[in-house]
Amino acid sequence: MVEITIDGKKINVSEDQCVLEGALTNGIYIPHLCHHKDLPENGSCRMCIVSVDGSNEVTPSCKLMPKEGMVINTKSEKIDKLRFLALDLLLAGHPEDCSTCPKYGNCELQTLIQYMGGASNRMRRRSKGFKENKENPLIEHDMNRCVLCGRCVRACKNLREVNVLDYKKEDMETYIGTLHDKLLKDEGCRFCGACAEVCPTGTIRDKLMIANPDKKKEDVVLPCKAACPVHTDIPKYIRFAKAGDFDGATAVIREKIPFPTSLGYICTHVCELSCKRKELNDSMSIRNIKRYVSEHSTGKYWKEGGKQLPDTGKKVCIVGAGPAGMTAALYLRKQGHDVTVKEALSNAGGMLRYGIPKYRLPREVIDEEVKFITDKGVKLETGSKVEKPIELKNDYDAVLMAIGTHKGVRLPLEGNDLKGVLINTDFLRNVSEGKETNMGERVVVLGGGNVAFDCARSAVRLGAKKVSLACLEAREVMTADDEEIKEAQEEGIEVFPAKTFEKITGEGNVTGVDFMNVLSFEFDENRRAIITKEPNSEMHIDCDTVIFATGQRSDISPEAGLKIGRANSIDTDFETLKTSEDGIFAAGDTIYGTKSVIEAVASGRKAASLIDIYLGGDGDITEKLAPEEPEITSIGHIDGFGDLERKEPKIKSANERKDNFDKFDFGLCDSDVCGESTRCLQCDLRLNISSPRLWDEYSTKEVEV
Ligand code: FES
Repeated sequence: MVEITIDGKKINVSEDQCVLEGALTNGIYIPHLCHHKDLPENGSCRMCIVSVDGSNEVTPSCKLMPKEGMVINTKSEKIDKLRFLALDLLLAGHPEDCSTCPKYGNCELQTLIQYMGGASNRMRRRSKGFKENKENPLIEHDMNRCVLCGRCVRACKNLREVNVLDYKKEDMETYIGTLHDKLLKDEGCRFCGACAEVCPTGTIRDKLMIANPDKKKEDVVLPCKAACPVHTDIPKYIRFAKAGDFDGATAVIREKIPFPTSLGYICTHVCELSCKRKELNDSMSIRNIKRYVSEHSTGKYWKEGGKQLPDTGKKVCIVGAGPAGMTAALYLRKQGHDVTVKEALSNAGGMLRYGIPKYRLPREVIDEEVKFITDKGVKLETGSKVEKPIELKNDYDAVLMAIGTHKGVRLPLEGNDLKGVLINTDFLRNVSEGKETNMGERVVVLGGGNVAFDCARSAVRLGAKKVSLACLEAREVMTADDEEIKEAQEEGIEVFPAKTFEKITGEGNVTGVDFMNVLSFEFDENRRAIITKEPNSEMHIDCDTVIFATGQRSDISPEAGLKIGRANSIDTDFETLKTSEDGIFAAGDTIYGTKSVIEAVASGRKAASLIDIYLGGDGDITEKLAPEEPEITSIGHIDGFGDLERKEPKIKSANERKDNFDKFDFGLCDSDVCGESTRCLQCDLRLNISSPRLWDEYSTKEVEV
């Protein structure tokens, strides 16, 4: 450090930082524009000029390195005059109307003009006449607003080393463009957003930021992480995966999720639906990367590491060993509590085991992930149905009800009690346990979600000769994942979207189902279905088995002693997760209805935190498992980056898979995981770029004109 004096004020600054940055770091504002803390200086705008005692010259303070005892003046008549001249030059080609600019109110140029008390307007204004370029994905350019500070060029060249942007000239007018005047994607742009981040004006703009002005910046910059119910640090684990550090990648995931491999197989991957890469060609295969790294992790970092607080002496009972219950159990154990999980069925896993067929999720994956939790000290009692949770309060300090939704819904429909009518939950549980299902040869599944497809595809594997699936929803709003629908159709399942279920026909035994076409379908404010049918669109499918896959409820009654809410849920305050009974909490599907495994994990985490607070802890269940990443600024150039194709997993053909319950999706292969990881835009790195501080945030903010 050296001591310098700026406008009479002594400050200590680093010898490695320019005088401008030293001043800014010490809260002293010197006007500037082309300077950015993370970029090399180019000294082009000359707004930061100062004079040094002993010299008649002025010099840009961004180019001036401090020396012990240096005395600097940032204000004088000469400096003001030259600054106004520099500002006039910057503004000569800039539009006068700022109110239409997307950066209005947040523009560094605008705040600079305010600091200067306005421009002198001596320069003749001219219009640059560039056309706004909105053809690129994610980013748009309006070169009319550019003041050629060159921050974007330095961000692209020096910071990221992508080398796509440069200064260009057209009809004597300089502008920033791509090297060969092609679209960003065709020049190998990595769409990291650094150029938009450092642009001080409204020249280079982030389309998603413009479209989402009210969202938190981090959520717009990192939509995958924002969409994930537990906010897994997705770009970070993808970087570890790219480097071949599968332990590091898994540790990042395990900081939030105790079921990474299971989720690698079956997660509904809402993150992929939000992935910005899809604006270029196709979203990242995030779920498959998760599966690959967790299947290839040795356990380094996360198996032995992580938090384990000393025993608190408090006892918690968790009812239900599904993903919500087991997640809560793990984190409560890590907080030092004595945790017992009581599971009514003969094995742990909940819907992972009894709802999802094993061709989608091998049982050894669930076993291994449950074992990790019990190895950490969670006691598991299977075959232990809790009828009266209130009585658990005699032995435990807190109770969590995570009983899931294991009771299928039989719609009130003529013929719903005929022989041959089955219920999704019972059917899938019997399939999972290898028990008799009482299914016939021609099956109709009623429902359009993933569970309905699990039923239909299981029926195919059990040997049904014909399987059809019908649902109220139109094809584009069916809730099942697209790949489920596609793979089911490949296996010969006929899918009939937009159908009403008129009645199940038959006398004694099922003989078929009558349907009509749906013209429109919505729910009213009371969640009642309002359906408009197409006249004369009657249709019948012959069958001997009907499987209702039209919803699931919790298997609980008022006799349990807890207040029952909508659709037989446990009435629970969504904020506190408290039920009607003090000390009894609830989480997962049983409070909000059937959602996804990752939602259940999120709910289990929240329950752990709230119960820990209830028991006197701080509720902080966060833990650090992954190793520190080195600071990353450069990502380099990759020819054809925007066209890199999504790597798909290796999957058995329909014929190979449809007569057995064996795993058929083998995930990404060894040679593809790095390639797929390379496709990531690494949007998170943008959040490491220093944000500018506008002049009114500094202590020396008096307007000096
Ligand atoms: Fe120093 Fe632009 S900030 S010359």
